[in-house]
Amino acid sequence: MPRSENRLLPIEWLSGGRIRLIDQTRLPQDESYLETSDYRDLAAAIREMKVRGAPLIGITAAYALALAAHEGGDAGKDELMSRLRTAAEELRATRPTAVNLAWALERALAVAEAAADPDSAIDALEAEARRIHEAEIAANQRIGANGASLLATGSTLLTHCNTGSLATGGYGTALGIARAAREVGKLERVYVTETRPLLQGARLTTWELQRDGIPFTLVVDSAAGSLLRRGLVQAVVVGADRIAANGDVANKIGTYPLAVLARENGVPFYVAAPISTIDFNTSRGDEIPIEERSPIEVTTLAGVETTMGGATAANPAFDITPSAYVTAIITENGVARAPYEASLAGLLREEAPSRG
Ligand code: MRU
Repeated sequence: MPRSENRLLPIEWLSGGRIRLIDQTRLPQDESYLETSDYRDLAAAIREMKVRGAPLIGITAAYALALAAHEGGDAGKDELMSRLRTAAEELRATRPTAVNLAWALERALAVAEAAADPDSAIDALEAEARRIHEAEIAANQRIGANGASLLATGSTLLTHCNTGSLATGGYGTALGIARAAREVGKLERVYVTETRPLLQGARLTTWELQRDGIPFTLVVDSAAGSLLRRGLVQAVVVGADRIAANGDVANKIGTYPLAVLARENGVPFYVAAPISTIDFNTSRGDEIPIEERSPIEVTTLAGVETTMGGATAANPAFDITPSAYVTAIITENGVARAPYEASLAGLLREEAPSRG
């Protein structure tokens, strides 16, 4: 297993312009890797959720553009830029909700544009993809420390979906807070929701926590209300795919009911995300595009049909949690609280030593 400092690396740039990534659709039963030098394979991997999680989707897109740059032989700069824009459009269309995808593509295109000639553009794209990857991991560690400082000793957390190394390139956002809290002796246990329909909680979060030796309990999504009402959870901590300028949060379907239940039961509801997940060009959550995925993901469980043929199903992959339900947004630059327009804009201006 590729690891850095004993940590899981879900994606890696190999020498000779190749990428290796762990196929997340096969975990936890099968730890297998996909290797490619073709950016189209990475676009397909994002679409098919072999790689997933907002920050990792952005990192993968940046590496994909670096691969696309290698394809052209002795092309001139204009031809290279046109090829990169075509690749960027294909990548941008893979999943619409996570803003990190567009953010990383814009950064990479700008770096290529600024390069003097094709060779330096190719080098610059590879360097930029690595920089984005390293900066995300460093940001995660700061998010972890900022989040852990908000928790009381002996806390049990509840989390949804997968926000760990597998979703971020290394360490994690919400799961990074669990890791950091465990390191300073504040974390008792993590309740992990299954996260239907694709079971990112049951398949991926439990796998990461088990590898780290962090105590967890897996529950069905609908158990969360009961746990909160019984006082078994001290904080709900989730990630985000996009945060609007007013603090509304798009995240995995089922996040919004968790926020409402947390409020109802007087439990803090924290959102952990890097600054790259905040979309200052989107003023409110209603403007965020929500990915609608195949109904087959709902009518089947691990490939087995769970309803009769022909049943109608809807499969929105994300929901919007209004900022009124969010106790705080934890970033690498600090912790934002309501009113979010001002506090998030303030964090953007903060010194961010880890983000290059
Ligand atoms: O559909 P997915 O698995 O890509 O959804 C992932 C989530 O909703 C995560 O909570 C979010 O991307 C944040 S990951 C740090």
